[in-house]
This record gives sequence, structure tokens and C-alpha cells, in this order.
Amino acid sequence: MSEKYVGRPVDRLDGLAKTTGQARFAAEHPYPDLAHAALVHATVPRGRITAIDTEAARAVKGVIDVLTHENAPAMKPPPSQSLLNPSTLVIGTSVNYLATDEVHWNGQPVAVVVAESPEAARHAAGLVRPTYEELPAVVDFAAEEPNATPQKGSAIMPAATNKGNAEAALDAAAVSVDLRFTTPPHSHNAIEPHATTAVWDGDRLTVHESTQSIAWLRSHLAQRFGVPQRNIRVLSPYVGGGFGGKGSVWAGTLLAVLAARATKRPVRLALTRAAVHHTVGGRTPTTQRVALGAESDGRLLALIHTSVARTGRVGGMPEQVTSASRHLYDSPNIRLRQSLVRLDLLPNTSMRAPGESIGTFALESAVDELACELGMDPIELRMRNEPARNPVDGKRFANRMLREAYELGAERFGWRERDPRPGSMTDGRWLVGMGVASAYHPSFQLPANVTVRLGADGGVVVRCALQEIGVGAATAQAQIAADELGVPLESVRVEVGDSELPEGPMAGGSGQTASAAAGVVEACRKLRRSALGLALKSPDSPLRGVTSPEARDGGLYQGSRGETYAAILTRAGRDHLEAAAGMGMLRFLAKTVRDQRRWVKAACGAQFCEVRVDRDTGEVRVSRWVGVFDVGRVINAKTVASQLRGGIVMGIGMALSEETLIDQRTGRVVNASLAEYHVPVHADIPRIDVHCLDEPDPTMPLGLRGVGEVGITGVGAAVANAVRHATGKRVRDLPITLDKLL
Ligand code: MOS
Repeated sequence: MSEKYVGRPVDRLDGLAKTTGQARFAAEHPYPDLAHAALVHATVPRGRITAIDTEAARAVKGVIDVLTHENAPAMKPPPSQSLLNPSTLVIGTSVNYLATDEVHWNGQPVAVVVAESPEAARHAAGLVRPTYEELPAVVDFAAEEPNATPQKGSAIMPAATNKGNAEAALDAAAVSVDLRFTTPPHSHNAIEPHATTAVWDGDRLTVHESTQSIAWLRSHLAQRFGVPQRNIRVLSPYVGGGFGGKGSVWAGTLLAVLAARATKRPVRLALTRAAVHHTVGGRTPTTQRVALGAESDGRLLALIHTSVARTGRVGGMPEQVTSASRHLYDSPNIRLRQSLVRLDLLPNTSMRAPGESIGTFALESAVDELACELGMDPIELRMRNEPARNPVDGKRFANRMLREAYELGAERFGWRERDPRPGSMTDGRWLVGMGVASAYHPSFQLPANVTVRLGADGGVVVRCALQEIGVGAATAQAQIAADELGVPLESVRVEVGDSELPEGPMAGGSGQTASAAAGVVEACRKLRRSALGLALKSPDSPLRGVTSPEARDGGLYQGSRGETYAAILTRAGRDHLEAAAGMGMLRFLAKTVRDQRRWVKAACGAQFCEVRVDRDTGEVRVSRWVGVFDVGRVINAKTVASQLRGGIVMGIGMALSEETLIDQRTGRVVNASLAEYHVPVHADIPRIDVHCLDEPDPTMPLGLRGVGEVGITGVGAAVANAVRHATGKRVRDLPITLDKLL
């Protein structure tokens, strides 16, 4: 038997290139004659540019051009969004940059300086002087909340649910909680800030870009710059983190391409950290209400979860804030509502588990508070309300092992040692708290096209324009192909990150690995069939008479009969065999809708957190973490654990420190740097024990579900619940900073 690769903690194939600095990211491609661009950001939230003085900027040595709405070549405006036109799915904002004198948010790019060096470009950008006619702007989320309007839902993403009469049931319940939560906006802070290198050659365009959506970026650029898609090549072999911030097309990308066209030079635009905060959408703030009513034995009678979130007036997307509440608890009465306000701010966008990360903070905090009211263990309360079928509509769960996750997690964490009385566990000056919460994230699949080539030399090449955003995506596909064909991992090469390759899925919704896997598995099956067909044509093949051989040891075998692919191909005089697999958007949508009618598919898990709270200062330190997850089949034990751990780290940031601060007078982000926007550092994070149940989901390719997002869900609540246990205080407003505990 050959050894199987799926499931093993295989090192990432791109690891060596990255750790030795050989991997070239979007801002690291040298071109002779390369020019550098920098953005000038509006300083008013809404208005018109009445004049723009570029003289001082132009006088800076090395400045090549200053592009403004007065002199920039035109881009086509972004079309309206349609599911059937992928180029519209990645619109960051509807603003046609530098084609208008209108300002729609404080920070919107209003000019681009192109210079011989990044230093000259940035210095000159600071010398551009726009003057504005200011218009009234609405930027205060809390003040706008009463004007929220219901979010429009869809079959795939419902925005409202009503089952029974939840308000009446809440009033009648023996025990209840009714809590209001707030979460702040968050900004994207991938380790690699957004960057573009754009090179025009006549009407052909090459773009080195840090992106999560190669294919849709290409079609979007074709549309905006009026050239055929085949004229555009997007290269994105390495991406230093995405998290949703590189899923859509933002100003920097468009303006780099525009500047390259205007100056007839290759142009690199590497956003500063501040420019990312000002031009790339982040997470919406929310206010949420969660009300729960129960019998005195803990059985839920009413579950109400409503949310107000924001989008921008010039774009944005609704986040699925209440979606986990559709699936986590059995209750005869459920009421869920998502509402939105539109503000004159940079629109929001996807950020790791958009909606679920903050929605589970509220839901899972409220469940914990109900357990406190009932005097019941919070795990016991959850298990009493664990549904056999989807609570809102009775659909089947494709597979759900939340109960098993809690059982194993409780054991690994030592939950039994918890004394439930608040403040009862101490360690010197520290109050020790233990909290628990459920993780939940739906599983998605996107259309993906793949080719697999089997060479007479025994080498295998998998090609798919997927995005390696730091998750080990290519490594997972190599493991899958190696197993499907029965060849050593070393003989598999995976080519990704190039729009010339077969069109891949975007890296989003935790769906990339499953989406590409479906294609790889199908293509490998075709290859095995073709190879067997070739062998059976030859009277000399030991496979003669064999009908269902096994792929192993570099070839096809049944018992002791069989031969290598190399032998099959060589005898047949073939240099290689190639197979393609994949799906178009229409077939894909039909399959998704059909699937969604039958199954609820999701990853879930149990998050266990221990905190220490300084009894004098209120400082909170996370001291232990255990996460047990049901993510279907594990393809790579190392990268899966890393993804889940990364999600937990990001969740700890959400719980304790992350917050985009917006000046309510001007709509300006005032902490647009990592010095003032605090993400966790190593010293903030304890050892994180991650365990996966590794049970295949029968409805997903190879039984695998995505792991990119589920890790962050439930984390905010697990921390808040641990803090509640340590201190007796229920903090309902993120982040849990020490002032809220004093
Ligand atoms: Mo994601 S938040 O779909 O990158």
C-alpha cells in the first residue's frame, strides 16, 4: 500500500520560498523604468473638490505626474452588481475614482502622485492641496441606528426569520435574558498591505496583485479599462494574508492601472498601512439584541436576535450577523432580523466570518448569561437545546458533531475543575475565569476549473488559478492529487496564482479548498480511466483483464498485477495524459440552490477559554485556549490547525483590542496605524490547543469543509464569558478593555 497524504501534517510547498525571502509578492517585481505611486486622500467626509493645487507636488524632484479628476484618463464606471456578471461581484465602491469631483468619504483618494521613487511620491502626495465645498455628511452609526431599514435577504442569505411568536414566548418564559450588545468597526491588517504593480504594453495589461479573486479581478479590470479579458494577465502567486480584504477591487488597484496607462510606465502602488485603513473596507459595527426565554429546566422557548449594521452610501455588503442563530439552538419560537444604515463612510467588506464572528459574540454571550440566570452549567444548557434538525425549517444537517466537540473539549480543557461561582477561582492577584462558546460557520463551494497532467516521466502537474493567501491551498491540492493518482507527493507540482491557468474559485467563504478539490478529484478519476484505457489496448500490459485497479505506487494495480503510469504511457508512445474538470457559474448556482434545499452544511466547534483578570487594573490576559472543531475531513493536519489557530488569534484581537476609531465630527479614521489599532502580538497569545474531529461531511467534496473562518466564531463570547466568570461582570460592548471592568 502507498501511504496516503490526505490527513497528514505535510509542510507547505511554498514554505521554503517564503521563509527564505525568495517568494516575490506583488510589490516586489522589478521592472526597468518602474515608477511609484502614492495616494492623496480627501479630508472631508462629503463634498465637492472646488480646486486642487498640484504645483508644489509637481515641483518635487522625481515627480513624473500628478493625476486628479482634472487630468486623469477616464475609467468606465463600475456597473451595477449582478450575480451573473462576476466582474461586478468584486466592486469595492461605486465611486469612479478621478473621474468625478465628488467626495463620498473622508479618506477617498482624490489624486495619485507618480514619481521615480516611493519616497518622492509620498512626499509630493502630502503637498497636493485640494479645496472642498463641504456637504452635510452622516457618519455617526449610533445616532443613525433609529433610521435603520430592513436588510434585503436572498434564498442563499436570508435576512429575516420568523417561527412562532418569539416576543410572546419570551414574555411568558419562566427565565429570560434580554441583552443589547455593541461591536465596533474593524480595519483589515493583513501582514502584506495591498499592493499592485501594473504594466501596460499597448492595450495589453499585466497586473501583479495581492488578491483573493484573480478571475473576477481580471474581468473587472477588463470592464473598467475597456480591453478584452484575454489582454489582461493577473499574477498573484503569493498573498500575504487576505481575510476578505483582498476579495474586492479597491481604489489602489484601479489607480495603479490608471496611473500606468497615463504615464506609460510600469507603476507600483504599495499602500501604506494608513492607506489600507482609508481605502479598503473593513468590518461593520453592530448593535445587537439577543433575548432568550427558557423553562426552568433550560429548554428554550424563545430566541430573538436582531442586528443593526452599516454599509456605505457608495457600496458595502450586508453581513450575516444573525445567521448562526438560525442553526445553533432548538426553539419553538425564533425571531431574527437584520437591519442596515447607510453612512457617508468607506463601505464595509468581508472580514473573516463577516457577520458570524460578531453575531456569535452576542448570541453566545446571551446563552452564557441565561445559564447564569438558570444556575446551570453553560455546556449542559447548550446540550439540552442541541437540535436534531435545523431549527428554523427542519432541514437536515449534513453532519453535525457539536456535542462530540463539547465532550472532547471539556475533557482536554479540564472544564470539570471549574467552580461556577464568579470570582471564586484566583491565582495571586489574578482572578481566573473559564468560558465556553460555540463556533459555527456555513460551508460554501464555488465553481472551479482544474487540469491535471500526468507525464510519461511520472510527474503530475495540477493547474488552477486559485489564490495562495497563506493557507497552504496548493499543498492541500497536491496531497489530494497524490492520493487520487497514487503517486509520491514529490512528483506533484501545483501551479496557482495566474489568470492564464484554468479559472479557479475566489479564496472566500472558506470555500477555496473544497471547490478546487472537487475539480482535482474529478480530473484525477478521468486520468486513471484514460491510463487504464491505454493499458488495456496493449496485449503486453499486465493490466489486461483488470477492471477496477487501485492507484498506488505510481501506477495502477490490482493485487500483484499492474504497472506504472510511466510504463503505460511509454509503451503507448504518449508523452503525457491530461484531464480537465470544472463547472460554469450557471450549473454551479443551480447545484447550490438544489443542495441548499436539502442540507444545512456548516463547520462548528467548541471554544474553551481561560482568562486571568488583574483584580486592581482590570487587565485581561488569555491564559489558555482549547478549540475542538467539526470541519469534516482534515486534508492537512498542520495547515488546518494553523488556520483554526489564526482564527482564534484574530478573535482574541476582536475580543480584547481591535477597534477602528472614527471621529464623529469628520468621519475620519483616527487610528489608521498598527501603533494605535491593536492586533494581538505573540505575548498576548497562549498555547492554543486545536483538535479536529475529522469526520467526513458526506455532502462536500472529499468530505471537507472550509476552515478559514470557523476558528474566529465564538471566540469573542468565550472570552467575554470567561471574563464574566472571573469578575461577575458581563461586558456587552467589544472590545473588552480594562476601563469596562473597573
Ligand atoms: Mo473571506 S471573509 O470570505 O476572505
